[in-house]
Amino acid sequence: MADETINSGLAGRVAVVTGGGGVLGGSMAEHLARQGVKVALLGRTVSRLETVAARIRAAGGEAAAVAADVLDPAALETARAEVAERLGRPAILLNAAGGNMPGATIMPEQTFFDLQIDDFDRVVSLNLRGTVLPTQVFGPDLVATGHGCVVNVSSMAARRPLTRVVGYAAAKAAVDNFTCWLAVEAAKKFGSRMRVNAIQPGFFVTEQNRRLLTEEDGSPTPRGRSVLDHTPLGRFGNPEDLHTALDFLCSDASSFVTGVVVPVDGGFGAFSGV
Ligand SMILES: NC(=O)c1ccc[n+]([C@@H]2O[C@H](COP(=O)([O-])OP(=O)(O)OC[C@H]3O[C@@H](n4cnc5c(N)ncnc54)[C@H](O)[C@@H]3O)[C@@H](O)[C@H]2O)c1
Repeated sequence: MADETINSGLAGRVAVVTGGGGVLGGSMAEHLARQGVKVALLGRTVSRLETVAARIRAAGGEAAAVAADVLDPAALETARAEVAERLGRPAILLNAAGGNMPGATIMPEQTFFDLQIDDFDRVVSLNLRGTVLPTQVFGPDLVATGHGCVVNVSSMAARRPLTRVVGYAAAKAAVDNFTCWLAVEAAKKFGSRMRVNAIQPGFFVTEQNRRLLTEEDGSPTPRGRSVLDHTPLGRFGNPEDLHTALDFLCSDASSFVTGVVVPVDGGFGAFSGV
């Protein structure tokens, strides 16, 4: 898809994108790079990060694949030093690492009483701790640039808890809460030097949820059909749909905006179903 031509004024800035080897994180990283942002792709699987980095470089952009687990403070500190050395001090942190886990999901034949509490803990940790920790580690660099922006990736599951995904919905609701909490805290301590906002995607067909939403032939599963019936704009999202919300939240266009969670959901969150 041809990229947007918005002049966001972000050229020359450095961004850290956690989960940058993933579908949505990778797409947003490539979008930032097309605007002249130097992008550090942070994640556990270097080969996936390198694939995205290669695409960015092939398009004339600048990217570095940086291995780190978002749940490991020591690895994040090492990553912070590596980003500073290879690209410079980051002004943008996009917390896109996250996702659901099977054991924290109630299957149709199960009840809540079958929930595996260790898996519940793991999914909450990945999405919540995995947002808090990178923000603690990279936050001081963001503040030091004078125009730092944290953008967290929440989910529509935070606003309207979805059936079955109990751990994920709780975790993303906590991410929304943390976004607002930190926005206030940062504004009081650092003024406009670090703003904190979130994007709340609706339903995007990605590797994690493809089998949940679509059949082998691409037609919607019953759950996918239900999602579409509750999405007034009548389709699943494309990763590109997130790009301009990201531009807005990272750029000086939103200099008076902090503590907001922006739904990009085709109207799902606004629709009562009736
Ligand atoms: N796909 C959707 O419809 C959808 C909807 C709402 C929100 N989201 C959120 O968007 C974000 C990206 O999702 P996606 O669909 O692109 O999934 P994805 O699986 O393609 O990307 C997630 C990335 O996070 C990385 N990751 C996982 N655990 C990590 C860890 N401990 N340390 C570092 N990296 C780790 C994975 O390796 C992967 O590259 C997630 O936070 C997800 O919850 C997705």
